[in-house]
Amino acid sequence: VRVGVLGGGQLGWMLARAGDPLGIRCRFLDPSPAAPAGRAGELVVGAYDDPAALDRFADGLALVTYEFENVPVGSAQRLAQRVRVLPPPRALEVAQDRLTEKRFLESVGVPVAPWRSVASLSDLRDAVADLGYPAVLKTRRLGYDGKGQHVIEGPDDIEPAWARQGEALLVLEGFVRFERELSILAVRGRDGATACYPLVENLHAGGILRRSLAPAVAVSAALQARAEGQAHRVLDALGYVGVLAIELFQVGERLLANEMAPRVHNSGHWTIEGAATSQFENHLRAVAGLPLGSTAARGASAMLNLIGRLPDTVAILGIPGAHLHLYGKAPRPGRKLGHVTLRADDQAELERLCARLERLIPPDPPGGS
Ligand SMILES: Nc1ncnc2c1ncn2[C@@H]1O[C@H](COP(=O)(O)OP(=O)(O)O)[C@@H](O)[C@H]1O
Ligand SMILES: [Mg+2]
Repeated sequence: VRVGVLGGGQLGWMLARAGDPLGIRCRFLDPSPAAPAGRAGELVVGAYDDPAALDRFADGLALVTYEFENVPVGSAQRLAQRVRVLPPPRALEVAQDRLTEKRFLESVGVPVAPWRSVASLSDLRDAVADLGYPAVLKTRRLGYDGKGQHVIEGPDDIEPAWARQGEALLVLEGFVRFERELSILAVRGRDGATACYPLVENLHAGGILRRSLAPAVAVSAALQARAEGQAHRVLDALGYVGVLAIELFQVGERLLANEMAPRVHNSGHWTIEGAATSQFENHLRAVAGLPLGSTAARGASAMLNLIGRLPDTVAILGIPGAHLHLYGKAPRPGRKLGHVTLRADDQAELERLCARLERLIPPDPPGGS
């Protein structure tokens, strides 16, 4: 089976390697000839909105998926006229615009933080008056790793925030005083079968994911069930096929959805070593119409992102249970260059090794955002 993947970043690279033993070969479309996925599969270099590049990419394929969520929806729709595109382009459309996403989540009964649409400075003043301080002003489109966001702490921040972001379509969100951030990764097959991974705890700094712990500790059965219920409502409403991630804020026993990703997700990288079936394999199984694999965790895992600077490989590999994944990207502040997953049989052992590992991860140099 040959699967086309829109986007050729590290997610694509990991998809290709998961597909290989299943007899699935990936072909990627990416604007960069240096795209990481090119080392693991065929790479078509071209713009996502170039019809000739899309045609070259789709030639001979029966199935297309994506690893990058900002592919133009029109391109996915164009491809869908000649090949099966999964997850459905509608999922891409919903996830690309924070406003559409929030409306969609609310419509299927998934709670989100209070929000207001902002298109002018006076909208922004009204929205701040409604939601109070602090509030987070975000671009509706193209934000990632915390880019395109500003926290408004008080009245003096309103005009500067507007001046920096006023050109774009915006949304203002109430600032959530969460206890922690979690994510739920779910997968749905072509036959409608679904499975969820255990909730993951995510730590962000400067808007970038730094560390995931999986399974998250102290998760009640009710909390896991609530997260799975939310994921199921999203999957079913979209007729979704593939892996979906929902980022969540935990406030007491409540879960507010922050955003969703219609693709494999950084907070699921631990599944390569830490789960019976990785998110990458399960995504490919789902879109290819194969039976889904078990989502059970194997012991306890920590995933640490390598951001901006590369670590001492030898020292990292000296830690038992540490697995290094370097994406082959040139170092640059704020850039995800790789990750390390640490797997242990129990939580105490994981914490001990994780403390050792964290000392080996160099801090991200300034200048990333
Ligand atoms: N409304 C909010 N309240 C509190 N923290 C937030 C809020 N929105 C975002 N954040 C913080 O910023 C991080 C990045 O925001 P997110 O909306 O997920 O953007 P991105 O698309 O860049 O990942 C979140 O993981 C969270 O730590
Ligand atoms: Mg996010």
